[in-house]
Amino acid sequence: MIKAFIFDLDGVLTDTAEYHYQAWKRLADELGIPFDRQRNEAMRGVSRRRSLELLLDGRPATEEQMEQWVERKNGYYVELLRQMPPDAILPGALELLSEVRQAGMAIGIASASKNTSLVLDRLGLWGYVDAVSDGYSVARPKPAPDLFLHCARQLNVQPAEAVVVEDAAAGVEAALAGGFWVVGLGPPERVAGAHAIFPSLEGVHLRDILQAFMTEVTVTSQVTITSTQEQRI
Ligand code: BG6
Ligand code: MG
Repeated sequence: MIKAFIFDLDGVLTDTAEYHYQAWKRLADELGIPFDRQRNEAMRGVSRRRSLELLLDGRPATEEQMEQWVERKNGYYVELLRQMPPDAILPGALELLSEVRQAGMAIGIASASKNTSLVLDRLGLWGYVDAVSDGYSVARPKPAPDLFLHCARQLNVQPAEAVVVEDAAAGVEAALAGGFWVVGLGPPERVAGAHAIFPSLEGVHLRDILQAFMTEVTVTSQVTITSTQEQRI
């Protein structure tokens, strides 16, 4: 029985993934490092520090430089957040939040971002949220399951009773490792392994998600039967 939904924030409820890209791009240009949207894909759901390591791609840097650069990038990102309009919620997100609420389920936010509260402020989403786990909550970032487990504990639910909605490969991996039901948003190759995959939340209703999980259970059992039969042969 599903009792809660845990949403990732960046790229799921709002397109801050684009602002993260613009902020990294500005830093990359200043450092003379080639960077584009495709390379930014690898940074989805990844911590600020790890993102810088991906950007540097083996280029040497001192600890002090790295600290300065992540701070600078965050300054650029926060500048963009302050200009973000309050209606910058992705299509379908508000509708799904309302449906989950109406169905009596709890809602958590589990984001690697240390700017989670600021984003929730800007979007006026606090009224939908029962618990928040963010970049300050746990030591091990996604793909470790810790952030989602932290959020589930706050909501007082078991992983098998909760659905995680994610747009990042690292996030899907983390949620699966934690034993959650997983909805992946985006290209199937990015969110492979999720129990249900949609291009975005646009037009996706609670019943579509629950139905997709039921199909998943059926498909899984068929696969099991087939492989057992193959083994017998
Ligand atoms: C994740 C984003 O939600 O948060 C990543 O998908 C980002 O791109 C990470 O690096 C950390 O965010 P912040 O706001 O703490 O730099
Ligand atoms: Mg995300």
